[in-house]
Amino acid sequence: MADLTGRVAIVTGGSEGIGRSVVEALAGEGASVVLTSRSRDRATSVAGEIGGEVRGAVMGVGCDVRDPSQCRDLVSATVAAFGGLDILVNNAGLGIFKPIQEMSAEEYLVQVETNLNGVFFTTKAALDPLREADDAWVINIGSLASRNTFSGGVGYNASKFGLLGMTEAMMLDLRYDGIRTSIIMPGSVNTGFSDHGDRPWAIQPDDVGEAVLQLLSYPRHTLVSRVEMRPSAPPRK
Ligand SMILES: NC(=O)c1ccc[n+]([C@@H]2O[C@H](COP(=O)([O-])OP(=O)(O)OC[C@H]3O[C@@H](n4cnc5c(N)ncnc54)[C@H](OP(=O)(O)O)[C@@H]3O)[C@@H](O)[C@H]2O)c1
Repeated sequence: MADLTGRVAIVTGGSEGIGRSVVEALAGEGASVVLTSRSRDRATSVAGEIGGEVRGAVMGVGCDVRDPSQCRDLVSATVAAFGGLDILVNNAGLGIFKPIQEMSAEEYLVQVETNLNGVFFTTKAALDPLREADDAWVINIGSLASRNTFSGGVGYNASKFGLLGMTEAMMLDLRYDGIRTSIIMPGSVNTGFSDHGDRPWAIQPDDVGEAVLQLLSYPRHTLVSRVEMRPSAPPRK
């Protein structure tokens, strides 16, 4: 796996679940990582927990990705602390699973604002330092729900289908600026994201961390732009 010593990463939503595993993976390979939570206290405390166990430095910053000015402050804090930015992992997200008849406008909007608009705001804020980096990456955490609809997915599907389209358009925009852009699309991951309890048969969050490291290890001339991940043997329906 690539040695990430000297590289600087931001992982949005790094306080738990997939994001936390991605932070552990990147910092485990020596990267300096900034993780975010909507709560600054939570971000700082999780960064402290992870920082004691990995090679790279880990810093926590409070940032609600729905707010463009907080995204700009996040990038400024990262550059001030570590001198640049090489890798942006847009992971922060949430799902509210209800049919349209039961979903409020607020529940719909919070998903699109977080899962879709938040990725635009954070990436936009990060463009200048990413352009200056030697080998830059934007890795967005989509979902198999980026291309498969399901009942109860009216808000989540809208946000994640949009994210797939946005990521691939962004990839075409950014490739000649030396920025590789990918989307990882997992199926069920064993996190607290939905109320399903422990799911040992599901993808484990560390597996997504591993997928991020694998993307980063490809030689410069190759871009794996879309990665689909699914449990190999989910319960039969
Ligand atoms: N779990 C799955 O089955 C699965 C499958 C496919 C894709 N995904 C995607 O993977 C990503 C992570 O999911 P997960 O399962 O790890 O969920 P999780 O355990 O619930 O973690 C979600 C993370 O997002 C952060 N977050 C939520 N809203 C935010 C906002 N407005 N601004 C900044 N951070 C925010 C949370 O931070 P705080 O609460 O500390 O603010 C938390 O760190 C999401 O994009 C999700 O759609 C998950």
